[in-house]
Amino acid sequence: MDDLSDIKMTRRELLLAGASAATAVAIPSASAAQGATQGAANPSARSQPAMSQVTLEVNGKRVTLDLDTRTTLLDALREHLHLTGTKKGCDHGQCGACTVHLDGRRINACLTLAIMHEGAKITTVEGLGTPQQPHPMQRAFVKHDGYQCGYCTPGQICSAVAVLDEIRAGIPSHVSASLTARPPLSEAEIRERMSGNICRCGAYSNIVEAIVEVAGEPAGSRA
Ligand code: FES
Ligand code: FES
Repeated sequence: MDDLSDIKMTRRELLLAGASAATAVAIPSASAAQGATQGAANPSARSQPAMSQVTLEVNGKRVTLDLDTRTTLLDALREHLHLTGTKKGCDHGQCGACTVHLDGRRINACLTLAIMHEGAKITTVEGLGTPQQPHPMQRAFVKHDGYQCGYCTPGQICSAVAVLDEIRAGIPSHVSASLTARPPLSEAEIRERMSGNICRCGAYSNIVEAIVEVAGEPAGSRA
């Protein structure tokens, strides 16, 4: 058996041995980098995204799009149809800035893929009203100063319109006293149901005032 003293290395020998080991580890990385460069130079070497066609009815107009299957409904609206009223806040279902109506129900457009909704009817804030003929909820937000920077506002307005429809349809919320009786059009109900729409400017009290005002109108006067 060798005496340990026989295999002692000098500091210089140790450093040289370490350098050659590092080079050996680096060689595969260098070849991988070369492969990546070749892939960039030759696009056919890379895999192509899966594409699919989807037809939607957006704000009353039928549109057909060729989309990468990973395209969210939010990106389809903003990037492909240029309906930039719908906002991207978190892109993770946490802020409500991307709220639109899909077949009459509100939905976070960032959380769903466009190709899942073949034939669906989508309404964005642009489809609720126009500057000349605003939706009563849009008018009420202006009247009550329901915004500051306005970034969350399209999502707030789309949600608010859906909230009143949900209450009128008798759908209970977390604060509803009964699961079967029709919920009241109360401020507590409105605040709870709007809790998925975050306003960084903190315009909440004015938003609630706007919704309460519209809620007080006869249903027939709402667009
Ligand atoms: Fe969709 Fe925030 S952008 S919830
Ligand atoms: Fe600025 Fe709501 S008005 S985030």
